[in-house]
Formats: sequence, structure tokens, C-alpha cells
Amino acid sequence: MSATLYQQIQQFYDASSGLWEQIWGEHMHHGYYGPDGTQKKDRRLAQIDLIEELLNWAGVQVADNILDVGCGIGGSSLYLAEKFNARATGITLSPVQAARATERALEANLSARSQFLVANAQAMPFADNSFDLVWSLESGEHMPDKTKFMQECYRVLKPGGTLIMVTWCHRPTDELPLTADEQKHLQDIYRVYCLPYVISLPEYQAIALQLPLNNIRTADWSTAVAPFWNVVIDSAFTPQAFIGLLLSGWSTIQGALSLGLMRRGYQRGLIQFGLLCGNK
Ligand SMILES: C[S@@+](CC[C@H](N)C(=O)[O-])C[C@H]1O[C@@H](n2cnc3c(N)ncnc32)[C@H](O)[C@@H]1O
Repeated sequence: MSATLYQQIQQFYDASSGLWEQIWGEHMHHGYYGPDGTQKKDRRLAQIDLIEELLNWAGVQVADNILDVGCGIGGSSLYLAEKFNARATGITLSPVQAARATERALEANLSARSQFLVANAQAMPFADNSFDLVWSLESGEHMPDKTKFMQECYRVLKPGGTLIMVTWCHRPTDELPLTADEQKHLQDIYRVYCLPYVISLPEYQAIALQLPLNNIRTADWSTAVAPFWNVVIDSAFTPQAFIGLLLSGWSTIQGALSLGLMRRGYQRGLIQFGLLCGNK
């Protein structure tokens, strides 16, 4: 199952990353629109604000050696390397993304202290205790084994280092199991965005406790980020995006046609934007 999943993820990002960068820029994640989601702002600024708000929330003020797990084209990695004057390593399943991130590092004069590798987050090619900040922004939802993923993040984290993980979740199910209609909605999201499945934030917290991560904190920022999908939907209907979509192939077109799935997922409280941080 996983080999096929990994191939699908690779092909999805190989095919769509160029278009995403052209239309939406280097950050392949939600934006932050204030705690109640009402702030109006430029989309790219909202994406950078999300990074800043996350650092603030997790209390990270310094970092020397950063790992960006599921790095896209290095949006966060290069931003963090620059901000903290740090080393940054990014891993992705997509060779197209790794090559583009490497090129962007060169353009930003950051090649000497950054590297981008095609590597699997479920079995990372790094020694134990290597990084003082492990950052994973919207990649956990792609992982077929959430426990193994978090164990790997923990293993490569230095003692005292910080893990910041932000991922798509479904709502907690302790009071009410997912209904058949909610499960069908999730299956549609999984199919379009190459996700094996998502879990709830309390389930991530339970895994983090077992690692054992210290000072664990979690938060649901769905309200703050949900407006992002309205902005993406609006910009997908421009002539430039339309032509780009036609050239990028079926999986990208399907992703664009299905943007409303995530918007509805937030509206009905099914999808949550989950945050977890802690120290080793
Ligand atoms: C939505 S993109 C987020 C990119 C980046 N974090 C950002 O915010 O711009 C998801 C990323 O996760 C990566 N990914 C998914 N599964 C992975 C795995 N098993 N190992 C490494 N990277 C993975 C994809 O290749 C892609 O780069």
C-alpha cells in the first residue's frame, strides 16, 4: 500500500508544485487570518504570519539546526534559516520539489547552510539527536504510520530541542464517532490530496505522550486558517491558473476542482487544523 501511496504523493507534488509556486508562491500551507479568522490580508503575508504565529505559540526564539519534514519547495526551511541565521535541511518525496528548493536556496544565497533531500519521513536518513528544531507544516496528513512518523521526528530531535507539528486532523471522536457521511467526506479529501487517512488531535497528543515528548501543548487553529480556502478558490479561477491547470495534468485539476471539500470540511467542524509542540 505505502509504495503506491508514496508514488502518488511524489507524482502529485512533482506535477503541481510549479503551478502552485507560479500562482500562489513558495509556501504550500494555510495562511493565518487572526484568532477569529477575520483579518483581511494578502495571501502570502497570511502564510508568513502563520509561520511567525507558530513560532510565537511554541515559544521558539532561537534555532541552530532545523529539519523541515515535508518541506515542499523550501518555503519554511529558507524562511527559518534566514530568520534564525541557522542551518536548514528539508526532506520531501518529490524530486521536483527538492530540485526547486535547492535552486531557491542558491537564489537566496543560502546554499552554504541549507540542503534539500528526497527522503522518507517514516525512515529518515539522519542520526539520532541531530536537530534542535523539527518543523513539520502540513505533511503529517500524508503519513501512512502516524506513530512511526512522530517517533522519527522525536529520534532526530536533540535533547531539549523543540518539535512543532501542524497537520490536518478530523474532529475528536470521543463523544460522537464519525458518521457515515463524515467518513465519505473524508474519503473524498483523502483521494484528491493523496492522504492515507487523518486522525484527531487528541490521538496525536496520545502518541506524543508515549514518545515521550515533554511540555506537550496542542491547539486547534481551524478558525484562524479556514478563510485561506476562499482565497485559493478565488485565485484558481483566473485565466493564468486555468491554463496552468490544464498543463499540469489530471491530479492537479482534480485537486483544484475539489477545493470546496476542505472549505466544507471546516464549515461542518469535520476538519481541524491541529497544532502540537513539545520538547525532547
Ligand atoms: C502540503 S506540502 C507542505 C510543504 C511545506 N511544508 C510548506 O508548508 O510549504 C506536503 C509535503 O509533504 C511531503 N511529504 C509527504 N509525505 C512525505 C513523506 N513520507 N516523507 C517526506 N515528505 C513527505 C510532500 O512531498 C510535500 O513536500
